Amino acid sequence: MSENVYPVSPEWAARAWLDEAKYKEMYKRSIDDPNGFWGEMGQRLDWIKPYTKVKNTSYDPHDVRIRWYEDGSLNVCYNCVDRHLPTRADQNAIIWEGDDPTEDEQITYRQLHERVCKFANVLKANGVKKGDRVTIYLPMIPEAAYAMLACARIGAIHSVVFGGFSPDSLMNRIADADSKFVITSDEGVRGGRAIPLKKNTDDAITAGNLSDMKVLVVRRTGGAVDMVPGRDLWLHEELVKVSADCPIEEMNAEDPLFILYTSGSTGQPKGVVHTSGGYLLFAGLTHQYIFDYHDGDIYWCTADVGWVTGHSYIIYGPLSNGATTLMFEGVPNYPTASRFWHVVDKWQVNIFYTAPTAIRALMGAGDDFVNRTDRSSLRLLGSVGEPINPEAWIWYYRVVGNSRCPIVDTWWQTETGGILISPLPGAMALKPGSATLPFFGVQPALVDEHGNELEGAVNGNLIIKDSWPGQMRTVFRDHDRFVQTYFSTYKGNYFTGDGARRDEDGYWWITGRVDDVLNVSGHRMGTAEVESALVAHPKVSEAAVVGYPHAIKGQGIYCYVTLNAGEAVTDELKAELVKHVRAEIGPIASPDLIQFSGGLPKTRSGKIMRRILRKIAEDDFSNLGDTSTLADPLVVEDLIGNRQNRKVTG
Ligand code: PRX
Repeated sequence: MSENVYPVSPEWAARAWLDEAKYKEMYKRSIDDPNGFWGEMGQRLDWIKPYTKVKNTSYDPHDVRIRWYEDGSLNVCYNCVDRHLPTRADQNAIIWEGDDPTEDEQITYRQLHERVCKFANVLKANGVKKGDRVTIYLPMIPEAAYAMLACARIGAIHSVVFGGFSPDSLMNRIADADSKFVITSDEGVRGGRAIPLKKNTDDAITAGNLSDMKVLVVRRTGGAVDMVPGRDLWLHEELVKVSADCPIEEMNAEDPLFILYTSGSTGQPKGVVHTSGGYLLFAGLTHQYIFDYHDGDIYWCTADVGWVTGHSYIIYGPLSNGATTLMFEGVPNYPTASRFWHVVDKWQVNIFYTAPTAIRALMGAGDDFVNRTDRSSLRLLGSVGEPINPEAWIWYYRVVGNSRCPIVDTWWQTETGGILISPLPGAMALKPGSATLPFFGVQPALVDEHGNELEGAVNGNLIIKDSWPGQMRTVFRDHDRFVQTYFSTYKGNYFTGDGARRDEDGYWWITGRVDDVLNVSGHRMGTAEVESALVAHPKVSEAAVVGYPHAIKGQGIYCYVTLNAGEAVTDELKAELVKHVRAEIGPIASPDLIQFSGGLPKTRSGKIMRRILRKIAEDDFSNLGDTSTLADPLVVEDLIGNRQNRKVTG
């Protein structure tokens, strides 16, 4: 093996569910005999009608079909809640830690059951039926979990929208899902600041001219809100009207469980559809083995339920395993940069899962914030969302984990439903920055731009050759877009949009997106979305957006903007554009750098040469490549010369 390897410790080899030999044996079987392997794994769930078929999938672009356990039926909420009651009624299902460190709540499985049933009855009493889409726009409060599970209980399809999205982004997601029911709260709180979620919802409904809507409002802060009679309902007023008895809806394994919008390289975000059986099985299985979850462990994933990580690894995976899952409303640096570690000590967290951007920010705050806490309960650390640089990995390992805790660097995507490439902590030696080896049933491969498969230790485009149960099934109401986006570039394979390197030990190193998708602080966004927000501003004529390396965020947003003739370049205008993009998409899309330019580098046929823009954004001018095909080569010199004026003050 190559340099810088962290072998499995003897304690871990002894305690973990899986050691190296077992991993190899199970992996081989999952590939050689997927029906046998997944047929057995499917038994982890409680089925209403047992399945007799396991895998029915095709990546043929003429017939893309992904079905698992297709003749079985089950209920996801039953699997996450009811089935644990005989053995775990008094165990905590959810530990909630508020933004304010003095606020918390422990919710047992018995309480979770009662609250979810009542929540589900409120939905039913207000007309929500099986198959209806329910939009959830909530902060990180227990009601977000109740709402998701209540939908699952009655067969409604939830579409969670991250609370950091703007009214316009919310409106587009409500409209695309054709959703008539929104669940929100008066306000959210993060880092001591209130976020006007109900007002944003009102603005979204007005902006989209959406009719026949119902809005269910959770009281979180008590802040003043306008309630529209006949449309808006307070949750607490509805709850007193319903019983705690709510039968489960029988769902086919392939019935949709949720839609989650995610950005691609073109157009509006896509509604990624995940279904009931295969998704839940895969979320639970990966949660157990990758985090090595054992009964009694306290598990904490710091993601927001607005992202897929929150769906699979705060709610569905852990709860299907009868785990105790911690839900955190706040941010890593409030009230101080010790907050994560105070929470770890307070609840004696054993397994901790976060994003590289948070690790880098906390690393920047200094070791003292970590060292003054105990953290001896920690056993395993996880990372997700973007490549973790070896420096941050080693700091996380050494300082946070006191060189005792393995790190699972988990690579996956909204589309994949669960983790595809990751260490299993008892089975694999670690290398800082590598996601190591594939999970059961996952067959990664590398191809060049023509689709030729590459062998050995190389860099290439990352594809997956066959289906796994957690894979997305379609784009909501747009199966052609699903086929086009994922199965047409490298025919017969799923294209991830990521680049990767396989090393001489067969380890996988994800290098980042190879398409026009940005990953800013682990938030995924299309350059096209930011560009269309910019050109919607009346003073902007043209815009091109690229990513550039950013010490904390991983990638920053670099905008090249051409103004309409006669518009003056000012710092105020820069600040105004930043504000404009935040209002159009949300604060996560704030431009980091804006460079005004007289023109953009285009080919004679008018195509913007993004390769050149990326190089300039990276301050790498030695390697601009062939600029002879540019319509106006002087544009490039002008762009390089004006770089110093790109700072954003707003
Ligand atoms: O580029 C990869 C990066 O995040 C993308 C998926 O983003 P999203 O759908 O928002 O899901 C994020 C949480 C699963 C991927 O295409 N990514 C995710 N995890 C890693 C990663 N890049 C490198 N290493 C990872 N562990």
